[in-house]
Amino acid sequence: MTTNATTHVMKVTQRPAVMMVEGRGSWLRDEDGKRYLDFVQGWAVNCLGHAHPAMLEALSSQAARLINCSPSYYNVPMARLATLVAESSGLHDVFFCNSGAEANEGAIKLVRKWGGRHRGGAYEIVTTHGAFHGRTLATMSASGKPAFEPLFEPKVPGFVKVPLNDLDALAAAITDRTVAVMLEPIQGEAGVFPAHDDYLRAVRDLARARGVLLILDEIQTGVGRTGLLYGFEHVGIRPDILTLGKGLGGGVPLAALVASKAASCFEAGDQGGTFGGNALMTAVGCAVMQTVNQPGFLAAVRDTSAYLAQRLGALAASHGHGAVRGRGLLLALALTRGDAAAVAEHAFDRGLIVNAPRPDTLRFMPALTVTHDEVDEMLKLLEPCLP
Ligand SMILES: Cc1ncc(COP(=O)(O)O)c(C=O)c1O
Repeated sequence: MTTNATTHVMKVTQRPAVMMVEGRGSWLRDEDGKRYLDFVQGWAVNCLGHAHPAMLEALSSQAARLINCSPSYYNVPMARLATLVAESSGLHDVFFCNSGAEANEGAIKLVRKWGGRHRGGAYEIVTTHGAFHGRTLATMSASGKPAFEPLFEPKVPGFVKVPLNDLDALAAAITDRTVAVMLEPIQGEAGVFPAHDDYLRAVRDLARARGVLLILDEIQTGVGRTGLLYGFEHVGIRPDILTLGKGLGGGVPLAALVASKAASCFEAGDQGGTFGGNALMTAVGCAVMQTVNQPGFLAAVRDTSAYLAQRLGALAASHGHGAVRGRGLLLALALTRGDAAAVAEHAFDRGLIVNAPRPDTLRFMPALTVTHDEVDEMLKLLEPCLP
């Protein structure tokens, strides 16, 4: 790769010196022709893999018809996708935006507005240690990622943090100032730490009993990632507010803030954004949702998940490593020794993309369409990299 080519790209993350040029299904290819089996998929974004035909068809046909008429007007894919999301989630109002952080920022604003109207000006949101809600100032302030703590002070006030899966701590943290509880069903960026099923049910009950709203951040877990359309379906609850991103656009910038009728209190002018709900991105969102909702799609995700978990578990046992965590195709393998970042780097050199969210954890978030053969291939590439 000519290093000159990247001179002017702002260095906000460490990137290997390769230039990616093409993606198909579970595979990426760089400009030198080297192929990579992609078990990160744009950070759990490309839920249908690279270059899925349904997305390509939506992109080309919608681009030829209408890309952006501005959010001042309704457009057909925007209305269709809002209906698909509202009906499938059991919630009511959908606001489209461009990133997960923007959806969560919207959720924070929405509950603050609701608190002003319905809870005597309450504005605090209880979130969890280890949570990741985005990289805007408010969503970094809401996050419980230790590395964020010293950055960009002063933080946005109004976030109280408790340990995940500790109901007593949560109950104690809810006061008259509290307006909402905000949680990921599985803490993905922290290293795939699930909120326990009983805990999630109890949090739902607690929020209702104490008169505060429940926001579920399903930016990583939503749209089939856990084997059901939404993570909350595994435990039979429904949040008051749901945020979606990543998989909703299957790789294009699309996210959504979804609210129950009772929680939805924005008035004209409170929220917006130039690109929000544009016809091109929402047409892709419709294609993604229709594909994920096809009969058998989610059952296949659950089947592949069971296969991947079982194969990872066997590999871990034979190398003396730890347990497999997670649900659906958001799985992690605990390493009992060695450095996961070094394993991921070695894997990359061999043509496998996996993620190391912590020194003791490898994370796997392949396309929801990944095949058993590709799982086998992944394990073949990974095994020699394990300490
Ligand atoms: C749970 C969760 N919330 C929010 C975000 C932020 O999304 P985005 O990077 O699209 O702003 C992420 C991204 O990793 C996420 O995993």
